[in-house]
Amino acid sequence: MTSKLWGGRFTGATDPLMEQFNASIGFDQRLWQADIQGSQAYGRALARAGLLTPAEAEQIVEGLAQVAQEWAAGSFVVQPGDEDIHTANERRLTELIGPVAGKLHTGRSRNDQIATDVRLWLRAQAGYLRGHLRQLISVAVGRAADEIDLLMPGYTHLQPAQPVRWSHWLLSHAWAWQRDTARLDDLLARLNVLPLGSGALAGNPFALDRAALAADLGFAGVTPNSLDAVSDRDFIAEFLFWATLCMVHLSRLAEDLILFSSREFGFVTLADAYSTGSSLMPQKKNPDALELLRGKTGRVLGGLAGLLVTLKGLPSTYNKDLQEDKEPLFDAVETLSGALQIACGVLSTLTPNPARLRAALAPEMLATDLADYLVRKGVPFRETHHVAGAAVQLAEQRGVELSALTLDDLAGLHPAFEADVAEVWNMEQSVERRDVAGGTSRRAVLAQIAQLRGWLGDPAGQ
Ligand code: ARG
Repeated sequence: MTSKLWGGRFTGATDPLMEQFNASIGFDQRLWQADIQGSQAYGRALARAGLLTPAEAEQIVEGLAQVAQEWAAGSFVVQPGDEDIHTANERRLTELIGPVAGKLHTGRSRNDQIATDVRLWLRAQAGYLRGHLRQLISVAVGRAADEIDLLMPGYTHLQPAQPVRWSHWLLSHAWAWQRDTARLDDLLARLNVLPLGSGALAGNPFALDRAALAADLGFAGVTPNSLDAVSDRDFIAEFLFWATLCMVHLSRLAEDLILFSSREFGFVTLADAYSTGSSLMPQKKNPDALELLRGKTGRVLGGLAGLLVTLKGLPSTYNKDLQEDKEPLFDAVETLSGALQIACGVLSTLTPNPARLRAALAPEMLATDLADYLVRKGVPFRETHHVAGAAVQLAEQRGVELSALTLDDLAGLHPAFEADVAEVWNMEQSVERRDVAGGTSRRAVLAQIAQLRGWLGDPAGQ
């Protein structure tokens, strides 16, 4: 008789290469804690259903605690026959407490077991990721409050467009992360449902109290259909989409900062802690941390695409293809965890360069304000846009800044120009004029800061 969990009907030996191909222990061992936690709760549920005596349940729960201690201490020894984390833990439990361990799997399948383990594991990981995200947001908000006086060029098409507050730019990224946090909370609600008690596919035949089991494991409810429960990987696909979008947001921050830290822009200096040098060119300081944030986005996106392809076309219900859900998930969690912390480190340690930010504010960025000046004098915007455009052209022809045009020059373009047009050439005023919700004025930016602080539960913003 073979010692394999599923060995009963088999007479021939498995090809060793097949053993290797089939095994998931190499990567799913990181689920050890969730697997133990799920099994302990399942043991208690079996006792409540009268399938284990209280003493047997206690033996199982305590035996599993011992197995957990071995994993935690790094002393658990994976044996050649340990196909996956479920097999490994049950094999070790049997060694520790004897044949009573064989009762634990009553009515359970590795199909509802793995679906449960992954949900438990991901729920815990999501908590850490959420913490990193909030930390990142709070760094951006803190800087935005401290550095609200700094102005910089805002860009569209990577062309200097209009002046904005540096804080406004910082917060533009913080809002994306705030939505990422909200999105994570949304998917957690769908994740936090218990599949255990679905058996291999058709449900549990021993009148297991699934609601009590769910409560024991902190799940908000139980899956409503056993066929769906063992084959549903939506929560992983959703998480990978979430992770991808989150990486895309970090990548866009990274791209901004790579540009801003270049010699040509010189808007910020990155801390040495997040930069590296060149092995060849002594003068180089490279933004490697940011390039990796940008670069690693590709692998997380690849994981999402890969999983969706794996899921497409699967027949009902569990199929071994589903084992392929784990590596992209683990990789995404690890990548995200590192990326969020690195982004936080980069953002909290960089130094803005006020002189360079100022110097980049060219008067032509106030061309819209020039058009708006005429609007305030009652000229239709369509017309004022042309007049301001003509002014830009005139300045270009003369080789002077837009602000260097005289009142006579401007009056030649439109009779509504008066001496007070000189007041247009003021960056601070341009930014302050945009005093609507979501605008660049100090008041509007402070309102954003207060809103985010309120959302973070930070008393400074209440
Ligand atoms: N290692 C498997 C997985 O990750 C566990 C479930 C195996 N179930 C089965 N019927 N072979 O999907």
